[in-house]
Amino acid sequence: MSQLAPPHGADTLKPLLLPETERADEMKRAGTLKIIPLDSRAVSDVFMLAMGAYTPLDGFMGHDDWRGVCLDMKLANGVFWPIPVTLSVGREIGDSIHAEEDVALADGETGEILAVMTVREKYAIDKNVEAEHVYRTTDPKHPGVAKVLAQGEVNLAGPVMVLSEGEYPGKYPDLYIRPAQSRAMFAERGWSTVAAFQTRNPMHRSHEHLVKIAAEVSDGVFIHQVLGKLKEGDIPADVRTRAIQAMIDNYFRPGTVIQAGYPIEMRYAGPREALLHALIRQNFGCSHLIVGRDHAGVGSYYGPFDAHHIFDQLWPGALVCKPLKIDITFFCRKCYGMATAKTCPHDASEHISISGTQQREMLASGAEIPPEFSRPEVVEILREYYAGLNA
Ligand code: ADX
Repeated sequence: MSQLAPPHGADTLKPLLLPETERADEMKRAGTLKIIPLDSRAVSDVFMLAMGAYTPLDGFMGHDDWRGVCLDMKLANGVFWPIPVTLSVGREIGDSIHAEEDVALADGETGEILAVMTVREKYAIDKNVEAEHVYRTTDPKHPGVAKVLAQGEVNLAGPVMVLSEGEYPGKYPDLYIRPAQSRAMFAERGWSTVAAFQTRNPMHRSHEHLVKIAAEVSDGVFIHQVLGKLKEGDIPADVRTRAIQAMIDNYFRPGTVIQAGYPIEMRYAGPREALLHALIRQNFGCSHLIVGRDHAGVGSYYGPFDAHHIFDQLWPGALVCKPLKIDITFFCRKCYGMATAKTCPHDASEHISISGTQQREMLASGAEIPPEFSRPEVVEILREYYAGLNA
């Protein structure tokens, strides 16, 4: 019988999406409330709260949680949490809101009302503290830090009731799998150990190798991609989804992997984000998270294995979901196959190293992508996309 990892820090999942039957009335009431426009990161956090991926949070964090998370990776109640989930507004809006006021949270781009929040606390943060501790840099060129620095002056905290998941369920009917659903799918397949593969890229052969290593040692793999906002130049979700499906259809045994997507917006916080990725995957029912080279990193802000090492700093019981730490994977001409730095004895000159960034650059410049680098079925889909861009 399937026995899955329990939700994080709670007995049951806490999806904050209001039951469908109650939404229309609440939406009517929300229309009468003060409207708070959210930036894309806060919108994505509302959707993460809605589906229960952020269990046990019941809304946006207050000051004590923010501080504990930044400094000690703990909520005020002691539960492990590695990255703040906060909502900020400008001074003028902040000043206009009183304690215990219900406000409507709206997508700042589309204007759609997404949720109602009861404001329990208003506070200011030292943005540099968050940047320093969570991102290990205060460099405004770091895309995650830039968003922290661009936040409004006032943070609003309080419980959230979500009324809409935006366009996600309609846009990705098969991919948009909520934690309760993934758990049901794993149980139905009789899986207990499930490794999650976090990605924001179409899968190249290094990714394929990571997933196959995980598939060898677990009941199944959850290929779980980012559907939220990405950096400029990243490949859009619909193209990536098709490319991943081509990989699954041609190179994996049926019934061993599940492709899904979730609405997070990457913060590119490297090691701290790897921890958040594991916590979230625990809520989805996964026992392991694949953590490879420079997981969730950007540029050269993090060492290639900082995201491995940070898991060793956790206290017992902090997290049930464990990292599946895997070294750099590459194609070795001498081994004549995929290998990792841990096992391959050959000189680096024999290695064809593979990265998503490199693949994107090669595609953009129209360079040949060798089969050691990427599967032809995947390359075909990506080529088509790039041809459209350059047309
Ligand atoms: S991200 O979320 O970590 O930014 P990305 O798609 O770049 O997503 O990587 C997905 C996973 O594959 C991460 O765990 C990353 O560490 C790992 N990875 C990517 N390329 C390699 C590689 N060549 N060797 C080892 N691990 C890799």
